[in-house]
Amino acid sequence: MSPNLTSATIIARAASTARTRQRARGANLSTFAQAQQAAKYILARTRVRPRIAVVLGSGLGGFADSLENPAIIDYRNIPHFPVSTAIGHAGRLVIGTLQGVPVAAMQGRVHFYEGYSLAQVIFPMRVLAQLGIRTAILTNAAGGICTDYHQGCLVLLRDHINLQGSNPLIGPNDERFGVRFPDMTTVHWAPYRAFAREEARNLGLDVFEGVYAALTGPSYETPAEIRYLRGIGADLVGMSTVPEIIAAAHMGIRVLGISCVTNMAAGILDQPITAEEVLETGERVQGQFSALLNAVIPRISAGLTSPTQSAPGPPPQTASAQVSPKAKGPAKKPKRRGR
Ligand code: HPA
Repeated sequence: MSPNLTSATIIARAASTARTRQRARGANLSTFAQAQQAAKYILARTRVRPRIAVVLGSGLGGFADSLENPAIIDYRNIPHFPVSTAIGHAGRLVIGTLQGVPVAAMQGRVHFYEGYSLAQVIFPMRVLAQLGIRTAILTNAAGGICTDYHQGCLVLLRDHINLQGSNPLIGPNDERFGVRFPDMTTVHWAPYRAFAREEARNLGLDVFEGVYAALTGPSYETPAEIRYLRGIGADLVGMSTVPEIIAAAHMGIRVLGISCVTNMAAGILDQPITAEEVLETGERVQGQFSALLNAVIPRISAGLTSPTQSAPGPPPQTASAQVSPKAKGPAKKPKRRGR
């Protein structure tokens, strides 16, 4: 080794070599086995066993700093974990407790527009599931399409529209994650939205509900695209979250989606959209956002542990659990639901 190398360079090179070897070792593993390896690595670094995960979007990562007794793990060190390259995404998993509730918080995520495959985008959700997570609170920065919204308001996701042109579950299905054709009807779990509405009211926060449309980005939309999105029923637009929601549904994990409207969508105001504005708004509403999470997480946790509410998520939809309508006897007339 050259005597001119500094110790920092030597350490960096050793870490890089270790990562390359780790990747090579994982190359022949199934995604399920990779997720198990990643989960094992994480669980060896904390005694906390979270059942609720929070994914913190652009500019919203500050919530994780409020967790007590945190184990902070850099994504870079977790086997097979994709590393965020987007600004405002710290790239750290923080596992700790919030008022005694064990929580895993991801400070930042990876996006399709960064060049990751959708399978890579959902890998962290699959790892969280291996940690034992039954509920995912997925947050993001979004453009507001509904004109009732204003910059900085929070919107609870009632539903979503996938316009990313693909689906993260395309390819051979591993039944250990879930069934081939997962149902998406109730993944945006209505009781969680009810908790969030109630707690927002107690906190004096103005929260809305809406439908989130996911596009790939990275360019923001054109005004014509926003008019189109409004026409098809979208209230918000963003570049993330939907792949994770689909992965969650696949694994029987219930979701509370919360968007922070960091800007009104293209063409609504007579001004351009900038990434700086998105980050600044996210950071400006951090306080409100963290207050809402602080109030909602104990409510969700109580539901997960209470025998009466018995809500440890729907059972993973395994192939054997998918009974054909014929086998179930006479079909009941389904109830109609409105929007
Ligand atoms: N469009 C898409 N993604 C976004 C926006 C937007 O206006 N704002 C924040 N993320």
